[in-house]
Amino acid sequence: MTDQTPGMKDSTDKRWPSKPPGAIRVILVGDIVGKPGLEIACQAFEKLRRFCLVDVIIANAENAADGAGLTISQYKKLVESGVDAMTLGDHIYKKKEIATVLKEQRNIVKPANFPATAPGLDHCIIRAKCGVDVAVMSLLGRVFMRPVDCPFTAADRVLESIPDHCKIRICDIHAEATSDKQTMGRYLDGRVSAVLGTHTHVPTADDCILPKGTAFQCDVGMTGPYESILGRAIEPVLNTTISFDPNSFHVATDDVRLSGTIVDVNPTNGLALQISRLHLKKKELDSLTGE
Ligand SMILES: [Fe+2]
Ligand SMILES: [Fe+2]
Repeated sequence: MTDQTPGMKDSTDKRWPSKPPGAIRVILVGDIVGKPGLEIACQAFEKLRRFCLVDVIIANAENAADGAGLTISQYKKLVESGVDAMTLGDHIYKKKEIATVLKEQRNIVKPANFPATAPGLDHCIIRAKCGVDVAVMSLLGRVFMRPVDCPFTAADRVLESIPDHCKIRICDIHAEATSDKQTMGRYLDGRVSAVLGTHTHVPTADDCILPKGTAFQCDVGMTGPYESILGRAIEPVLNTTISFDPNSFHVATDDVRLSGTIVDVNPTNGLALQISRLHLKKKELDSLTGE
């Protein structure tokens, strides 16, 4: 592969592929967990634009507040650091204060299959710096999750309401079961640019472009500490699981990584040209200096 990315030191670097001419490069950064996740994500956004030529940054922020929820100050920090849009998930309302943000801001969404009265937009349309509009929606799965409305009906409703000129459409399917995620991928194939999974925190190796042109992956992975159990410190989780002795599951600290998935989209028809997993350790991110 030829390196066409300016500022990179090593031409054999294959952490991300070359960007096809004319493509809009979108990344979905996976579940940001706690302070370590928030720090690496905020540090990464500017570098993702500069080195990886990302045009649009979407992040799932449902675990930013000590592992569950998102505070107003964390929302502001993510926006100031360059995120374009945010999705959440089952932990959406763990911090009650976020309801104000969800009601007032236009760059953050609730799962579209939540009740209409629940605080938040069922989708948002953000304008990338290059002038292209991108629609973002989130859906919650129904297997081993809280009872919610039908995600397929919700997806249809949202897609009908998106103006035709907005071709790039990204769907975060926040679900426990890979079957829930694959079913949604096939249902929306050819109708959205990407169906990308979150919630399970473990990146999956099934990234592909489905037959009608939608990029798909079961889970883009967690952004946070990997020396952990899904982002939480190992010992308390192990102890409680084995002994039933109650413990608080605090966020772990070590081996912090950014995990997400890049989708290059043809802006004229909204279909995916390429999908690539991105998994950066803190050290690798620090080494991206352009020198
Ligand atoms: Fe979740
Ligand atoms: Fe999560």
